[in-house]
Formats: sequence, structure tokens, C-alpha cells
Amino acid sequence: MRVLVTGGTGTVGSTVVKALQGKAEVSVLTRDPEKAKRLPQGVKGVVGNLLDIGTIRSVFKGYDSVFLVTVVSPTEATEGLLALNGIRDAGVKRVVYLSVQDAERAVHLPHFGSKVPVEMAIQASGLAGVILRPNNFYQNDVWYQQALLNYGVYPQPLGSAGVSRVDVRDIADAAVIALTTSKLDGQTLNLVGPDALTGLGTAEIWSKALGKPVKYAGDDMDSWEKQNLAYGIPPVLAYDFRLMYEWFQTKGLKASKEDLAELTNVLGHAPRKYADYVNEMAKAWKTG
Ligand SMILES: NC(=O)c1ccc[n+]([C@@H]2O[C@H](COP(=O)([O-])OP(=O)(O)OC[C@H]3O[C@@H](n4cnc5c(N)ncnc54)[C@H](OP(=O)(O)O)[C@@H]3O)[C@@H](O)[C@H]2O)c1
Repeated sequence: MRVLVTGGTGTVGSTVVKALQGKAEVSVLTRDPEKAKRLPQGVKGVVGNLLDIGTIRSVFKGYDSVFLVTVVSPTEATEGLLALNGIRDAGVKRVVYLSVQDAERAVHLPHFGSKVPVEMAIQASGLAGVILRPNNFYQNDVWYQQALLNYGVYPQPLGSAGVSRVDVRDIADAAVIALTTSKLDGQTLNLVGPDALTGLGTAEIWSKALGKPVKYAGDDMDSWEKQNLAYGIPPVLAYDFRLMYEWFQTKGLKASKEDLAELTNVLGHAPRKYADYVNEMAKAWKTG
């Protein structure tokens, strides 16, 4: 079986590539010829860009399944729709799309709303489509390593309504099943973790793991947006993420019991716990 992973040099894609090894012949689409040379052994690099029509017309030929990741940007919906046309015209049997939990409930958030037309196009395409809808990733916390270690601060403004964050390795495990079997064809699956996490609770978990006080930076989105602009995040993205965190703070993004039962059934194990991820990272940062 031949599988193409778009976004295969990124957070989810690279974990999916790892999990696919030994189960499929894997190729990764990257815009960067240098990254194409540095992929794991046995993985083929294909250079292209989802905004390039030449790529769309050629890159999907010869694959059985495509894992489709589009990154957050003002062209995200267009990239997803272009890719789907390329996938269909190339005769690929199955597409597994990385969307986001509750995309249609929070369609006003630009990077949630961008995924809705792509999901609709998959459902209308006649392809064997699988839509994976993850919650916020545990692995986002690598961005906060310096804040945690140097300042004892947890800065992600998760609020107190509860966010059922998920381990990217559970996303990858579900993606492998979706890409290499017909078990999930036609399904939309929420990918969630077992705990509805809050900002304060998250800081406490880090504090325990690091053995020192960790303070939650709080819910003030004006200062959060300013700080992100100062770090060079483009204004469109800083605003988009601000809107998302305001949504998390007012509504939360929680798993239902059914979500957790369904995911446990698909994975064959309970979704990984956040505290275990944090302990693992704290140990790695201490030793490494
Ligand atoms: N972070 C979260 O908590 C979270 C939660 C739910 C859903 N999501 C969704 O997950 C997706 C992002 O996944 P991720 O974090 O794994 O991605 P990522 O790490 O940001 O990057 C994925 C890769 O996509 C490639 N890429 C970017 N633009 C491209 C283009 N025009 N054509 C071809 N390749 C391109 C880049 O690779 P090269 O540089 O090698 O080209 C990049 O490394 C987004 O749709 C986001 O909304 C994220």
C-alpha cells in the first residue's frame, strides 16, 4: 500500500509517518528540497506546494491513501479544496483529513471555518473519506518550554471551561487505521483526551512534574495578543488564535462520554493522559 502524507514534516504528519513505518510505503510532500533529503529512512520525499497547480495535478498519482494536512493560513480552505480535486483526479481511493473538533460549532473562527467546506467536499466526493477532528494537542506545550523552565509560567490561555486536549500519538494511531484499512471509511471521529483541562489545572500538572511552582499566565487576551505580535506572529493568525482562546474560555472544547468510548474502541486502548505526557516531557527536559 502506498500512502502520501502532506504536512509530513510537521507535528502530526511526522508522527503519522513514524507510525506508518512497516505498514505502508510512505511518501511525504514538503515545499523544501532540503527537508525532503532529511526524512526518516525509507520515506520518500516529494517536493511541491498545495498552492501550486502543477503539484495538485501531479503529486497524488499512484497512491492508495492520502493523509491531508493543511496548515492554519488565510489560504487553508483553498489548499484543502485544491488538494481534494487533485486526489480525486489522480484516482486515489482514500483521503484522511486532519480537521478540528467542533469545526461547524465554531465556524466563525477562521481556521475552524476553513475546514468545514473541505469536510463537505470530502463527504460529497465519493472518495472513501475519513475526517479526523482533534482537540488541542498536548504537544503544543513544547512551545512553552522556556516559559515553564525559565519563568515558571504556563502561558496557553485555556481558561476554566475545560478543553479535552489530545496526544498527537493517539491522532497518529487513529490515522494509521484510517489510512491502511477500510474500518473508518465514511466516518468523522473526534480525537480527544480523557481530561477536560483548564489553565490553572494545567499549570498544577506542570508544577508537580517539574517539582517547582508554575503559575498560569491567566485569561487576559489583550496582553496575550500583544505578546504574540511582539514574537512576530502575523496579525491575522494572532487574531484567529485569540478568537479561538476566547471561545475555549467561554464555551470550552470538551469531549463527550461517547467521544471517549468511540475513540477507545477505535484505538483499542484508552486515549493517553495529559499528566503522563507532561511527566515524560519534564523528564526529557531535565535530562536533556
Ligand atoms: N495545534 C493544535 O492544537 C491543533 C488542534 C486541532 C487541529 N489542528 C490543525 O492541525 C493542522 C496543523 O497540523 P500540524 O500542527 O501538524 O502542522 P504543522 O506542524 O504546522 O506543519 C505541517 C507542515 O505543512 C507543510 N506545509 C505548509 N504549507 C504548505 C503548502 N502550501 N503546501 C504543502 N505543504 C505545506 C509544512 O511543511 P514544509 O515546510 O516541509 O513544506 C509544515 O511543516 C492545522 O490544520 C490545525 O488547524 C491543530
